[in-house]
Amino acid sequence: MIKKIGVVGCGQMGSGIIQVAAGAGYQVLANEASEVFLDKGLAGIAKRLDKAIEKGKATAEEKAKIMGNIVRTNELEELADCDLVIEAIVEDINAKKEIFQALDKVCKAETILASNTSSIPIGDLGSVTKRRDRFVGLHFFNPVPVMKLVEVVRALDTSENTIQSVKQFAESLGKTTVAAKDTPGFIVNVLLIPYLLDAIRQYERGLASALDIDNAMKLGCGHPMGPLTLTDFIGLDTTLFIADIFFNEFKDDHYAAPPLLRRMVAAGYMGMKSGRGFFDYSKK
Ligand code: CAA
Repeated sequence: MIKKIGVVGCGQMGSGIIQVAAGAGYQVLANEASEVFLDKGLAGIAKRLDKAIEKGKATAEEKAKIMGNIVRTNELEELADCDLVIEAIVEDINAKKEIFQALDKVCKAETILASNTSSIPIGDLGSVTKRRDRFVGLHFFNPVPVMKLVEVVRALDTSENTIQSVKQFAESLGKTTVAAKDTPGFIVNVLLIPYLLDAIRQYERGLASALDIDNAMKLGCGHPMGPLTLTDFIGLDTTLFIADIFFNEFKDDHYAAPPLLRRMVAAGYMGMKSGRGFFDYSKK
C-alpha cells in the first residue's frame, strides 16, 4: 500500500507531482540537492494554490493542508522509508542513474522506484538497481495539476504487483493511466514529437506564418495550443533532445530534427522559459 511518497527534483514536473500527491492527502518528501531549487519549487506550488484561492477554486485551509503534507529534504537518505520514490530531475541518463543507485542503497526493500523520464529507457535506469521488479516508468504531463494522463511504463523486469500499485496511486491522484511498453517516447511522445517536428519543417519551408500554423491547428482541430506554441511550452531544447533520442534509436527520417530547431536551440531560443522561441514571451 502506497502511503508515503518521495519526489526527487523540484522543477516544473517534480513540483507538479508534489502538488497533486500532497493534494490527494499523501505525505510527500520533496527532495532537491539545492535549497534554492527547493525554495523555488515549493514557492511555485504556493503561488498556484494562491491563484486557485483567488478564483474561488480552493480555500486557505486547503492550501495549508496541502503545504503541510510536504516535507523538505536535501538528503536522499531521508527517503528511506518511502513506499514510492518518483525521480523527476533533468533528462540526463548519468545523473538519473546516480540517483537511482543511491536510492536503491538507502530505501527499504519494498520501496518502488519510478522515473518520470519522457525519453530515457526505463530498463536502462532500472539496470543500476537490485530491484528491477520494483522499478517502473511513471510519466506525467505538463502542467501536472491540469493534465489528466499518466503513462505507466513496464520495463522487461517490472512486476505485475508494481504496475498495479503505481496504477492505483496515479488513479488516486485523479489521473487516468495508460500502459506503455518501454520503447522511446512511450505512447504520447512518439506520436507528438513527429507532429511538432513536421510543424517546424512546414514553418521552415515557408508554408505559413507561425501564428497561422498555430491558429490552423487550434481552430481547425480543436487543440488547446498550436504546435509551435506547444514546442515553446515544452522547450525547444527538450523537443530537440527527445527528437535526437528517437532518431538514434529508430534511424528514421521521420524523427530527424529540422535544422531550424537545432539553430534556434544553439542561439538560446528555448521557448517560454527563455522568453523566446517561435513566439516572443519577453514582455509577458
Ligand atoms: N500549473 C498548474 N495549473 C495551470 C498551469 C500550470 N503551469 N497553467 C495553467 N494552469 C491551469 C489554470 O490555473 C487554469 O485552471 P482553472 O481552470 O482551474 O482555473 C487552467 O489550467 C486553464 O489555464 P488558463 O485559463 O490560464 O490557460 P489555458 O486555458 O490556455 O490552458 C493549458 C493552459 C492547460 C496549458 C492549455 O493550453 C493546454 O492544455 N495546453 C496543452 C498542454 C500540453 O499539451 N501538455 C503536454 C505537453 S507534452 C508533455 O508534457 C510530455 C513531454 O514529455 C514533453
